[in-house]
Amino acid sequence: MTKYNVATLEGDGIGPEVTKAAISVMQEACGSNTIHFEKLDGGALHYQKSGTALPDESFKACQNMDAILHGAAGMPGITHPDGTEVGNDLHLELRFKLDLYANVRPIRLLPGVKSPLRKFDKGGIDYVIVRENTEGLYASRGAGMVLRDDIASDSLVITRKGTERVAKFAFELAKKRNGSPSDGKSRVTVCDKANILRSYAFFRSVCNDVHQGYPDVEIDYCYVDAITVHMVKKPEFYDVIVAENMFGDIISDLGATTVGGMGISPSAEIGDKHALFQGAHGSAPDIAGQNIASPVATILSGAMMLEWLGNKHNDIGLLSAGKRIESAVSKVLSEGLAVPTDLGGNSSCTQMTEAICRVLANHNLGA
Ligand code: IPM
Ligand code: MN
Repeated sequence: MTKYNVATLEGDGIGPEVTKAAISVMQEACGSNTIHFEKLDGGALHYQKSGTALPDESFKACQNMDAILHGAAGMPGITHPDGTEVGNDLHLELRFKLDLYANVRPIRLLPGVKSPLRKFDKGGIDYVIVRENTEGLYASRGAGMVLRDDIASDSLVITRKGTERVAKFAFELAKKRNGSPSDGKSRVTVCDKANILRSYAFFRSVCNDVHQGYPDVEIDYCYVDAITVHMVKKPEFYDVIVAENMFGDIISDLGATTVGGMGISPSAEIGDKHALFQGAHGSAPDIAGQNIASPVATILSGAMMLEWLGNKHNDIGLLSAGKRIESAVSKVLSEGLAVPTDLGGNSSCTQMTEAICRVLANHNLGA
């Protein structure tokens, strides 16, 4: 009898390949009797067959299981009449209906990975973007206005409750971390456009209110345009960045690129009761089915899932397994035991997975 059940939405494109890879690594780290991965339907191709990207039975399973593991969803060209992609319904419905309000995106330069930023060849980039995940400009998904093929608009929604809880998440995270690489200070940087829009000035003011409860964490502010410069010029300054939904979506891809790309960037979408874990990349249909996608982002998302489950259930075995997976990935990349194609190597998805599993099986990784 397994201890945990994980709703598994492989999705579209490379989703099945990278999800299978993450499951193999987690089973190697935890033993195959710890977690049952329940494979569920969903995504753009499922929509083509059934008319829905997230069937009720899949949603109910996500609601009732211990966590959600997701590959990727969306296929270009499979769109609603309004032009928006149907595959993203899967993801956005889960975010909104399960209230996964904190989208946690670690931006960390792993040993052995070359950053496109020249001076960072020995690490030194280690921060987390906490993206508000249930409102902002995304609140208008499916609710925007298009009139007479002449005018269109979407609204940006910022609520006190939505901002308080994501800011609190960010400050709590900063308290647990070791501070920024540049000065070791625990810091939350509020990313907004408060100089121009009242809604972002409101976002900033609510983050300020939350900061009153965290005297040991420094608060810092940066306009979203300026932060794209600083994320390239002084990434070592950042510890935790909190941002509205759309800004977080955009800057997290820039951040991922500075540490090796979307293929190495995990994410955890966390609410008070539920959580979804996926690589921050998309379905990459152009490389699907060729065994060349990097599974690293989804494997590291699996490690984040084990740590989240371990903390929630006070399960030191899972906490250890999550840390060992992270160490195994670092060892494989730093020693070049296998290098994915998106990092300049020629290891297949399978070879990456097998190399990480071998390290897990044959090395005492501590933790
Ligand atoms: C992401 C993706 C999603 C988003 C899509 C897949 C709905 O870009 O998770 O960053 O827009 O948030
Ligand atoms: Mn995105």
